[in-house]
Amino acid sequence: MNTASFERPEGGLTSSAHRRALIVVAAGSGTRLGHALPKAAVPLSRRSILEHALDAVTEPLGFGVVVIVVPSDASGFERLPDLRGELAARIGADVRLTAGGASRAASVAEGVHQVEEHARSQGWDPERTAVLIHDAARALTPSDVYRRVTHAVEAGAAAAVPGLPVADTIKQIRPSDGQGEESVEATPPRARLRAVQTPQGFSLEVLQRIRKDLADLDDRQAEQITDEGMAAEHLGHRVVVVPGDERGLKITTPTDLVTARGLLGETGASGPHVPSVVPRIGVAHDIHAFASPDEPCSLMLGGLEWPRERGLAGHSDGDAAAHAACAALFSAAGMGDLGTHFGADTIGTARADMEGASGVRLLEQAADLVRGSGYAIGNISIQLVANRPKFAPRREESEAALTRAAQAPVSVAATTSDGLGFTGRGEGIMATATALIYAAS
Ligand code: CTP
Ligand code: MG
Repeated sequence: MNTASFERPEGGLTSSAHRRALIVVAAGSGTRLGHALPKAAVPLSRRSILEHALDAVTEPLGFGVVVIVVPSDASGFERLPDLRGELAARIGADVRLTAGGASRAASVAEGVHQVEEHARSQGWDPERTAVLIHDAARALTPSDVYRRVTHAVEAGAAAAVPGLPVADTIKQIRPSDGQGEESVEATPPRARLRAVQTPQGFSLEVLQRIRKDLADLDDRQAEQITDEGMAAEHLGHRVVVVPGDERGLKITTPTDLVTARGLLGETGASGPHVPSVVPRIGVAHDIHAFASPDEPCSLMLGGLEWPRERGLAGHSDGDAAAHAACAALFSAAGMGDLGTHFGADTIGTARADMEGASGVRLLEQAADLVRGSGYAIGNISIQLVANRPKFAPRREESEAALTRAAQAPVSVAATTSDGLGFTGRGEGIMATATALIYAAS
């Protein structure tokens, strides 16, 4: 990190090291993450997401005030007063804690209010004060991104946002009218698209104008404006784009948390590193009860539909064999379990989009996630324990369906439990799977 080059540009804001402010919004609940704690308090390699986010806030960045916006109910944030004190001592700034609002915009407004108070008390000129707004959810954003954004604002930009080129082709769609399907309206040229991150920077004066303007909008219009950079654009300001950083991903879903852990491992910042010997194996069970006779459904098992067989209960299609295979893959990769990635009905995090989801599709996704973490899949072996259906006649068909989904060899064996236990009484089906993975070359 080259801190020496972080000088004030000639003709930009003055050289006082205390006319820079940072707002970190951390008041969201993290609905999509589905954790019991608010998102910023969720542990990531033994420290909270918020603590990681504050790591990048270093003394050379020159912030005179940092406002951390947290949920009004502080449960999960017991260490906050210590964090505040540590950060204040580390960077020599006024560090304030304040409670956020019901929306991100309302939380930002609380932060701006605190910055204004500090600026007034210090006699800062709003036109010559740079304010950066950062999502705590982008916990691994490096200091360099803050530096680039601050530079752009201090060089005279009304607003500056970090952006990354996009890998996907992005379509603008014409929404469904409720009857038909949505359709493509336009395909903007990819070379001119950027995925925008935070921190986003503004002069305090521009930010005050943005906030006033937002207050004049009705709720529906205001909802469409998803960040301050967009609001500045709507006001006709030129919004400068500086390079973002891959590490600035927004932790939104459980899968993002796994990615963030991987990034921390790569940079060696996750504390003691336990060397891992590859290949690695994983094991998992999945058990489903037969659906009640009042709610008949068809049986999905081993990637096949079994007409005339009694179906299994479950939020998804109940395919215990496919589910055990997914969980064994996650276990092998140290990526959590089915609930981590697909939600779990038993702990109340079942995802609506998983309702009726096919086991084969889940296995495809699980295999992709594991490959995305840098592993190749050796094989998966599944053992079914069930009285019914009679599996042997369709074993090869099932193995082919699951092998196609995992893009790796899957074998399935089946047995009964000699009349013992819940499987013996015909109450449900159990599947056990082991998976073997190895580091992709
Ligand atoms: N945020 C906030 N106050 C809110 C909502 C969001 O301070 N009322 C913050 C979040 O803490 C996060 C950032 O805004 O750092 C981006 O929001 P998002 O990633 O959507 O987080 P959540 O709203 O917590 O997550 P979800 O939408 O899944 O509930
Ligand atoms: Mg949100």
